[in-house]
Amino acid sequence: MEAQENWINKLERLQDQAFKDLQQAHKETELQNWHVTYLGRSSELMGIFSHIPQAPKEQRPLIGQKANLVKQALESQYSTRLEALKQETLEHSLKSEKLDITLPGRKATRGRLHIATQILREIYRIFAEMGFQIYLSPEVETDAYNFELLNIPAYHPARDLWDTFYTTTPGVIMRTHTSPGQIRAMREFAPNPVRVVLPGMVYRYEQMDASHEIQFNQLELLAVGENITFGDLRGTLEDFAHRMYGEDVQTRMRPSYFPFTEPSAEMDVQCIVCGGEGCPVCSGTGWLEILGCGMVHPVVLKNGGYDPKIFSGFAAGLGPERIAMLRYHIEDIRYFWSNDVRFLEQF
Ligand code: DAH
Repeated sequence: MEAQENWINKLERLQDQAFKDLQQAHKETELQNWHVTYLGRSSELMGIFSHIPQAPKEQRPLIGQKANLVKQALESQYSTRLEALKQETLEHSLKSEKLDITLPGRKATRGRLHIATQILREIYRIFAEMGFQIYLSPEVETDAYNFELLNIPAYHPARDLWDTFYTTTPGVIMRTHTSPGQIRAMREFAPNPVRVVLPGMVYRYEQMDASHEIQFNQLELLAVGENITFGDLRGTLEDFAHRMYGEDVQTRMRPSYFPFTEPSAEMDVQCIVCGGEGCPVCSGTGWLEILGCGMVHPVVLKNGGYDPKIFSGFAAGLGPERIAMLRYHIEDIRYFWSNDVRFLEQF
């Protein structure tokens, strides 16, 4: 009888201890350890099971029953605790990983058009209103189109005006100006009239500094037809200057030299910074040069497929980056194509 009490007490103590320990298990690993300790193969409980055959015969059923009850109780407490722990972990992660969808989102950085593209589009709009179409011609050109057909023969000293990037293919170069597009447009449209703008990147083999780049945009203007005069050129460019810089801005033309125009000129606008008073931007002159222009040379007309006795035309070349530099007081042309977003974001 006494022995039986012992077995039963032992089992009850074991159960109490196990329940107490179970309350201390707060992690899944601790719970697993608990399971090994109290229900594992070498646990005290399993030891009792294996010793039951040594108990007096009549006591065995009672001890066995009790041992089974304890085992079931431990198993059931174990799975309840495991379930609770899983729930706790879930709630904790729900709380700590909570997403506040009412918080303002992170702003995406907005792309924008490059400043040169913006200026180009502004120029397109002005000339489109005057009836000019956009005509694109290649950036990789032949020596013939870039020079010869524009009345700049090989070894002519005027070639020194354009420092050229050559390719490894003889006769193929990077265009040094947009003027070769004049020949391409004329050859496509002749003998019909032409009224086009030719925009795009040009390349020069230059020593780079604040006012010299090896690449920049140009925009060429070309009108060919019958009875086109220098007056038309003057009127068109003055109209452009007024639309671009304001109705009141003064313009002036100075004689100049280009091999592909005769006569040739350069146009100045009143300094947009000082209004003509004289300042560092206009080197104290009150004027800013904005383009080169002239009447298309008869040789060039002929090369384009027009009879210079019947047809005449005017042309001009302007620099969009220069226009932007003057407008926004940008002091270094190298900013345009060095892709520094701190510069680009300002426009
Ligand atoms: N092609 C010239 C240059 O790059 C600019 C130019 C001057 C274009 C006079 C013209 C023009 O069409 O008439 O310096």
